[in-house]
Amino acid sequence: MPRHLIETTDFSKQEIQRILDLAEQFLDGKMRNTLKDHIIITIFFENSTRTLSSFEVATKRLGGSVVRLDVSRSSTSKGETLFDTAANLNAMSPSAIIVRHKSAGVPNILSRYVSCSIVNGGDGAHAHPTQALLDLLTLKKHLGNLEGKKIAIVGDIKSSRVANSNIELLSRFGMEVILIGPPHFIPKNRLRHHLYLKEVIDEVDAVMSLRTQTERHNLPVYSSLKDYANDYCITKEILGDRDIILLHPGPVHRNIDISDEMLKDPRCKVLEQVTHGVAIRMAVLETLITQSNASKIQNFPYF
Ligand code: NCD
Repeated sequence: MPRHLIETTDFSKQEIQRILDLAEQFLDGKMRNTLKDHIIITIFFENSTRTLSSFEVATKRLGGSVVRLDVSRSSTSKGETLFDTAANLNAMSPSAIIVRHKSAGVPNILSRYVSCSIVNGGDGAHAHPTQALLDLLTLKKHLGNLEGKKIAIVGDIKSSRVANSNIELLSRFGMEVILIGPPHFIPKNRLRHHLYLKEVIDEVDAVMSLRTQTERHNLPVYSSLKDYANDYCITKEILGDRDIILLHPGPVHRNIDISDEMLKDPRCKVLEQVTHGVAIRMAVLETLITQSNASKIQNFPYF
C-alpha cells in the first residue's frame, strides 16, 4: 500500500521527529540520489510560487525527475474528470503525485484512485501539511523544545489551511496556539482567542502572520486592506525589542501583513522557512516513497 500525506495526522509524532531529523541533515545543501529511479508528478490547480518550486527542487536534490502537468493545457480543461486524470497519470507509474486544489478533500479522494503516494500541496481551507512541518522545524530550531511555549497566529485563520495544519501539529508538540483576529476570521474551536496581538505579546515566543485570503471570501470582510493593516500589520512598534520570532508562509502582503521594517528584522524568519521547506519536502518524499516501495515488495512476494 502506498503511503500518503494528506494531513499532518498521517504521521505519528515519532515519524515526524524522524522527518525533522532527516530534514536537518538535508540542510547541508548536498545533492543525493535516493530518488534516482523515481518520477514525481506535480499537478497544481491553484497558483503557487513557493510550494510548487520547493517540491520540484526537493525532488531534484534527491536525484529524482519531475514532470509538471500544466493544468491549463491538461485534459481536465477538456472535461476529463479529475479522477480519470489521476488514474491516467498513475498508469505512467510515478512514485508520487503532488497535488494542490482549491477544493478541500481532493487529495484524499485521489489517493483512492492511485497506487502511488499522494502528497497534499494544499487543499482549499483544509490542510497544508508540508507547510506546517516546515514551520515546526523553524520553530524547533529557534525555540528548542516546544513544550509549554506559545505562538500567536494572526489574521485570517478561518480560511487558512496553513493555520489549520499548524494548529494540529504545533499543539501535538506541546505549544499553546493563541488565535488573534477580528471575530469573523476566528474559527470556532477550543483555542484561546484575542482581538489584538498586543493583548498577548508579553507571553508569546513566536508570532505567525497570515495573508488575508480574499479569494476565499464571498463578501469583503474588512472595509479595506488598509484598515485591516492598521489593526493587524506586524510592526516594530508592536514587537518592540522582545525576543520573539516572526513567521509567515508567504506570499506576504508587504505593509498589510508585515511592515517593510519587520521583514528586514533578524527576528523575521520568512526566507529561512523557505529554505527549511525544501529540506522538509525532501524528507517527506524520501520517507513516503521508500516506505511505499518496501510495502509493495511485501505485497508481491513472488517478484
Ligand atoms: C499558502 C498557501 O497557498 O496555502 N502559501 C504557501 O503555500 N506557502 C498561504 C497563502 O496562500 O496565503
